[in-house]
Amino acid sequence: MEGKRKTVLIVDDNQSNLATGKNLLKLRFEVYPVPSAARMFELLQKVTPDLILLDVEMPETDGYEAIKCLKANRDFADIPVIFLTSKNDERSEMYGLDLGATDYIFKPFSPPLLIKRIENQLLIAQQKQAIKSHAGELTKLVSQKNAEVHSLQNAIIMAIANLMELRDKYTGGHIARVQSYVKMLIEGLVRHDYYMDEISMWNLDLILPSVQLYDIGKIGIPESILNKPGELNLLEREIMRTHVDIGIEAVNKVIENMPESGFLRHALHVVGSHHEKWDGTGYPKGLREEEIPLEARLLAVADVYDALISWRPYKKAYTHDEAKAIIEDGSGTHFDPVIVHVFRGMEKEFYKVTQRYRADAYEGE
Ligand SMILES: [Fe+2]
Repeated sequence: MEGKRKTVLIVDDNQSNLATGKNLLKLRFEVYPVPSAARMFELLQKVTPDLILLDVEMPETDGYEAIKCLKANRDFADIPVIFLTSKNDERSEMYGLDLGATDYIFKPFSPPLLIKRIENQLLIAQQKQAIKSHAGELTKLVSQKNAEVHSLQNAIIMAIANLMELRDKYTGGHIARVQSYVKMLIEGLVRHDYYMDEISMWNLDLILPSVQLYDIGKIGIPESILNKPGELNLLEREIMRTHVDIGIEAVNKVIENMPESGFLRHALHVVGSHHEKWDGTGYPKGLREEEIPLEARLLAVADVYDALISWRPYKKAYTHDEAKAIIEDGSGTHFDPVIVHVFRGMEKEFYKVTQRYRADAYEGE
């Protein structure tokens, strides 16, 4: 054994056994002899031994009871215990090993063999500890790397979303606000215990960044239509609608390379279904009710609310109360009635978000 001397605790009610054990082991180990299980537990408050040599037959707490208490305590459970006893029948040995002892040695014992077996157990314990700390370091490293990948992913998505907003000059701050509304609506659903079967399977760290991509297909819409200072005609509206298919195609291409990505699955739901309507009159597929992915149903309320309260070249900015009335009016036709119900309960929070962005915009001027 290299390095610091290992510590061995000997527990035996017989004083001469304790003295013999100490004399035998003291040249190799730091030895603490104690005459009872009660004294062992007292000493364990001050010293954590590398191994315990435990007698079985002792008055009051015997060795079997003592090892049960050791194994039940997280601080002591990993200390290897060797029974050293004159109870030399097979059943007792089996019972001792079943209780978690690493070895069971009969008295009288061979001194060199006792030392060898103690050293073996110390070596195994040392190796176990090394594996445990290595595994701990690996887990730490993996979660650090995951966090790095996650924040890199978010930064890239935010960059894409910002680029999209730069192109669409009338929708400043829209994506960030919509993301806030979706977060609030999810919290509202959770508070009311709605759709929990589905929400409990979600990872919110993936959903919220994916929301930013919902209009990514607008990247393929001509500038003249995207920023037309007036209402779109029929043909232009048709072209505008293709932003959903363009978006689906873009996300599907990435999914081909990463089919297991939870983030991309959410992204596909919001990109592909955010213009579907509860009554089946939306596009591109005319999905109805709960056929529409929940993420997209949430986004529909968030997106429309924010579009309503924002100024566009072809429409005035509605007041919060007007927008709220339009959303409520769309309950069960355009929007999921459950989500509108939750929205109604938290409309003041929506209003606060709009005010906060307005204040930020003034500060930026
Ligand atoms: Fe859209």
